[in-house]
Amino acid sequence: MPICIDEKQKLFTLHTLHTTYQMAADKYNLLRHLYYGPKAEGCAFYLHVPADRGYAMQIPDAKNDRLYSPDVIPQEYPSQGSADMRSPAFAIINADGSCVSDLRYKSCRVLDGKYTLPRMPHVHISDEEMNNLPENERPETLAITLEDPISHVEVELLYGVFPAEDVITRAAVVKNVGNETFTIRKALSANLDFSFGRFDVITFYGRHAMERNLHRLEVGHGIFEIGSRRGASSHQYNPLMILADETADEISGSCYAMELVWSGGFTGCLEKDQFDQTRWQMGHMDGHFSYPLKAGETFTAPEVILTYSEHGFEQLSLNLHNTIRKHVLTGPWKDRVRPLLLNSWEACYFDFDGDTIRSIAREAKDLGFEMIVVDDGWFGKRDDDTTSLGDWSVNEEKLGCTLPQLIRDIRAMDMKFGIWIEPEMISEDSELFKAHPDYALSVPGRAPVIGRNQLVLDFSRKEVVDAIFDQFCEIFAEEVPDYIKWDFNRSLSESFSKNADDQGRVFYDFMLGTYDLLSRFREKWPDILIEGCAGGGGRFDAGMLYYTPQIWCSDNTDAVDRVRIQYGTSFGYPSYSMGAHVSVSPNEQNGRVTPLATRAAVAMAGTFGYELDPRKMTDEEKAMVREQTDAYRKYAPLTLSGDYLRLTDPFRDHVGAWEICAADGSEALVTAVTLEIHGNAPQNYIRLRRLTPGAVYRDEESGREYSADMLMYAGLPVPREMFEYASHVWHFVRV
Ligand code: GLA
Repeated sequence: MPICIDEKQKLFTLHTLHTTYQMAADKYNLLRHLYYGPKAEGCAFYLHVPADRGYAMQIPDAKNDRLYSPDVIPQEYPSQGSADMRSPAFAIINADGSCVSDLRYKSCRVLDGKYTLPRMPHVHISDEEMNNLPENERPETLAITLEDPISHVEVELLYGVFPAEDVITRAAVVKNVGNETFTIRKALSANLDFSFGRFDVITFYGRHAMERNLHRLEVGHGIFEIGSRRGASSHQYNPLMILADETADEISGSCYAMELVWSGGFTGCLEKDQFDQTRWQMGHMDGHFSYPLKAGETFTAPEVILTYSEHGFEQLSLNLHNTIRKHVLTGPWKDRVRPLLLNSWEACYFDFDGDTIRSIAREAKDLGFEMIVVDDGWFGKRDDDTTSLGDWSVNEEKLGCTLPQLIRDIRAMDMKFGIWIEPEMISEDSELFKAHPDYALSVPGRAPVIGRNQLVLDFSRKEVVDAIFDQFCEIFAEEVPDYIKWDFNRSLSESFSKNADDQGRVFYDFMLGTYDLLSRFREKWPDILIEGCAGGGGRFDAGMLYYTPQIWCSDNTDAVDRVRIQYGTSFGYPSYSMGAHVSVSPNEQNGRVTPLATRAAVAMAGTFGYELDPRKMTDEEKAMVREQTDAYRKYAPLTLSGDYLRLTDPFRDHVGAWEICAADGSEALVTAVTLEIHGNAPQNYIRLRRLTPGAVYRDEESGREYSADMLMYAGLPVPREMFEYASHVWHFVRV
């Protein structure tokens, strides 16, 4: 049983196959955190040593028990104003204006399977999937209710235990059980307290076109915080944090991850306190947030995925990858190889008509592509980025035909058809804005903040979501595209909505509006493959992956930068969720010149595609592309389901290398890209991993056979090429 409850001791123990999580309600019913780490039997309640700590306060019922202070006790869900002076996970303003709440244990229940969260993405498992699992691998839910009878608030802490993935999910549902409205200022998804230990924190910072760079730092005294106030998870900080032993590396050491299943603003916070205890929190952004909860209403704090690995970051990432692949992605494309696409953006930007698309498609078909995607510029009167967002009607004059006609023409070539949309946005220069200026998020009487010449639609209002959905119903009434690229090209800034009872809730409600629209698309057109995008990788998170099984990883298509961007992204997300394309050289984002073979080798680690004009390629290049599209078809099933392993650190090493290994060890695709060359340079080596020990593997290209043990422990030399950014791909097959 993954969940064990000792009712007498009010002790709750959650077991996955290799980890244990434990908490208990103490004599004052404060829910204490006891343990999270390698699988363990027994009870860790003894670990906290009661002591009279100078200047520490007691809760009222502990009166003069100076050995008892919540300020030092590790807790599950600390609330503001209850004698714990560290960062709270929960804070409200009561109807009387006071900011105190004091949550204590009330009750618990265990449910078969995994809880769901209404209106927002979450880790899930169907009854059928449950039944196919051995009993000890079936997920279970523990729901613990905390209460504060004076504030009339109940918080249900939800724990979903996924034994096989070594994952525990957490979420919290706040209920107003009184008659008066109170305002939530903070309701995080998870709080994790450690009584001792020295840690490093790893986060993934970035910017547009250079997302998810790895940053590792020792956790020191004070508060370390990442997050986003942008209404999207953002390019700047990914909602993924790793807390690790100082010595942890890819294959050794103890480490934890928290990954948020939410695409809006967030906070991730670490606090090392006066006694060297570490508090780690993640959840919805707290600044710029206030949510009035009326009598009888509930508020759901989005879900966070927690995992632990005793064997370094590789296993930690695989736990997250497996969870996302099996229990976050939804729909028919979840575990299918995706069509090999050619996107029009870097091929012709806004400058195309129907014939351009047809002739690119014809050439693409000949090169082995399966789908043509018409990117931005096909609707309203959009020939640049100043206009028409919100007007989702086909520019027939520009295309020279209707959209259904274009779709049919492409399908007649035995190609699939994909299209770009940006449904959450509105241009001031649009019919929609003329008719409904209040549909844009802006403050009356103030000029709005502009980003990429556009405003954001007020998706906290259902009628605005309806207005956009209706337009797409009309446009897809005759022919439904096979694929949609769902873009989002600016941040939210002003949180003001016409009807909101509190403007502090607007960003949260906006995100639910976006999820509502995504759900409607998925319900109405279940077969459409949706690729997420936000100026490249500005909303690359597990929340979006619930609706869009692949996300455009970055607007930066340079293979060398991509080695690093995909490396960072791989810590939290499966490689096959990363949209990765071959584009022209010199690259149009950074001017770098790279070989076509390297561009393809790097893009092939993700959902592979191209964005360039195939009509402009030489015959020699076309011949190479034909080989590459064939190679994709051959290797995509392995990329889709295999274990993605980072073999080097491309921020430090001269080579970027990774391996995609079949879970049963039968084959491994290994790629190495030389990132730097020097005169008379040292030889570069890599070591393979997760091959079958004792087995022999054949390198398909050379026919040479290697011992798996030697490949894993002695290593493999990377070929010495006399040009920059050379790459080498090996396909090792177990003999
Ligand atoms: C964003 C996307 C690009 C492209 C453009 C179109 O920047 O990330 O891939 O679709 O929008 O305007």
